[in-house]
Amino acid sequence: MNYPRISALKGVEAFRSHIASLKIDLNCDDEIITGPKGPLSWQYRFCGKNIGNRFCIHPMEGWDATRDGKASDFTRRRWSKFGESGAKLVWGGEAFAVTEKGKANPNQLIVSDENRSSIAELRQILLDSHLEKMGRVDDLFLGLQLTHSGRFCKPFRKDKMEPAILYHHPLLDSKFGIDESYPVLNDGEIQVIIDNYIYAAKIAWELGYDFVDIKHCHGYLGHEFLSAHRRSGRFGGSFENRTRFLREIVSGIRAEVPQLVIGVRLSAFDKLPFKPDPKGGDSKKLGKGIPEFFDKSSIYEYGFGLNKSDPLEIDLSETMLFLALLEKLDIRLVNISCGSPYYNPHIQRPALFPPSDGYQPPEDPLVGVARQINVVSALKSTFPNICFVGSGYSYLQEFLPYVGQRLISTEQVDFIGLGRMILSYPDLPRDVISNGEMKRKLICRTFSDCTTAPRNGIISGCFPLDKFYKNLEQAKELRDLKSGKSR
Ligand SMILES: Cc1cc2nc3c(=O)[nH]c(=O)nc-3n(C[C@H](O)[C@H](O)[C@H](O)COP(=O)(O)O)c2cc1C
Repeated sequence: MNYPRISALKGVEAFRSHIASLKIDLNCDDEIITGPKGPLSWQYRFCGKNIGNRFCIHPMEGWDATRDGKASDFTRRRWSKFGESGAKLVWGGEAFAVTEKGKANPNQLIVSDENRSSIAELRQILLDSHLEKMGRVDDLFLGLQLTHSGRFCKPFRKDKMEPAILYHHPLLDSKFGIDESYPVLNDGEIQVIIDNYIYAAKIAWELGYDFVDIKHCHGYLGHEFLSAHRRSGRFGGSFENRTRFLREIVSGIRAEVPQLVIGVRLSAFDKLPFKPDPKGGDSKKLGKGIPEFFDKSSIYEYGFGLNKSDPLEIDLSETMLFLALLEKLDIRLVNISCGSPYYNPHIQRPALFPPSDGYQPPEDPLVGVARQINVVSALKSTFPNICFVGSGYSYLQEFLPYVGQRLISTEQVDFIGLGRMILSYPDLPRDVISNGEMKRKLICRTFSDCTTAPRNGIISGCFPLDKFYKNLEQAKELRDLKSGKSR
C-alpha cells in the first residue's frame, strides 16, 4: 500500500516511467504552452457563446449555508475564489437542494423563492471577482447544480440520515442502517420532486444563470433512478422508466424556460460498494478497501454502468444509451464523474489519504485517475458533439496541466474539471495559462480533510493548505477528531 508520492516524481520523465510501471494508459505533454495558443486557453464554442478557456470549476459544496439554505460568509468567500480562478466554465458552484427535505446536510443551499436574493448575490460575487481578475465576463458560462440527495438526505440534523429511497438496495441499506420496512418514495412523491426541479430551474433562469445541471451522480436521487431495475411502476424497471425522471424534468423546464441550457452531471460507471478490510486496520489506521461481499452466482441489479455479472467491471452500454438520450433531448453539456463518495470514494475522488469514513486506497490512486480519463475519452469519441467535462484530475498534482493539455489537444475531453485542487489552489487556471507554472505549496496532496470534516458535521474547506481554514477553530476540532481526542 506504499504508493509512490507524486510530489517525489521529479519531472515529466519520472512521471511517465511511474505510469509505465502501473501499466495504465495515461499520456501527458512535455511542456505547457502558455498564452492564447495553449490548448488550455482555447475557446470553446457552445450555444452561441465562446467560453473563454478549457478549465471548469466542479461543484464543490461547503456544508456551510444557513439553516434556511442561504449563503454564509464561507459560501461567499468560496464563490469569490471560484470567480477569481479564471476558469471560464463554472459548473454549479455547488449542489443546491431543490427542496428542504432533499438536503444532503442541514447546511446545504436551497433554491427557493425565499432564497432568491442570496442565489443572485452568489452569482454577482462570482462575476465581480472574475471581472476583476480576468477583465471580462462575457466568455464565462455559469450554471447551478440542482439536486435531491435521495438515499443520502440529512436535511435537519447532522447526525441523522432521513433517506428518500427508490428501492431497497441489499448492500447500501445495510451499510446505512435502512431496514426492509422503510418506505420507498411513491410515484406521487416523485412527481412533486420533479416539479421542484422545474421550479428551481425557472428561478435559476430568472436570476441570470446560464444553465442548470440535473444531477445524476454520486448515489443521489437522480443517479439512483438509473439503477432502479427492481422498482415497479412508471419509474423503475426498463431503461425508459428509469430515465422518466430526467425526461419529465427536461420537458417541464423546456415548457417554462425554453432558452435555459440544461446540463447533466453523470456517474458514468459504478462499482460495488467498498469497505475497510476488517483484518487490515487498527485503531489508528483504516484497513485497505475491499468490495462488499457479492455472491458471484447471482446478478447485481443495483448499479448503473457496471457489469451485472461482475459488478467490479465497467460496462458502458447503458451509459451510451443514456448519452444518446441526452443528445435526443438536445442536452449537449455533460460532466462525467463516477461512483459515489459515500460507498466507493477511491474511484470517485482518487486520494492517497482516505476520508474518515473511507479505507486505505486499494489501488494506486493514479489507476483511478486513468480510469475516469479513459472512460471520458471513450464517451467523447462516440459522442463528438457533446461537450464533455472530465473529473478526478486533482490527484495528478504537479502533472495536472501536462495531462490536461494533452487531453484537450487530442480532443479526448472538452474541459478539465477541477475539484479538490481548486479548494487548495484557486489561482491554478490563471497561473497555468499565464506562465505554465504551479505554486508547489498550494498543490492539493489529497489529505481528504475536505471530506472528513463534513462527514463529521464540520464545514468543508482546505484545512491543510488554505491559511484561512488552517486558522479557524474548526481546524483544531478536525485535528482533535483525527487524533481521536473528540467525538
Ligand atoms: C468537499 C467536496 C465537495 C463536493 N461537492 C460536490 C457537489 O456539491 N456536487 C458534485 O457533483 N460533486 C461534488 N464533489 C465532487 C467533486 O466535484 C469532484 O468530482 C471530485 O472531487 C473529484 O475531482 P477532483 O479530483 O478534482 O477533486 C465534491 C467533492 C469534495 C471533495
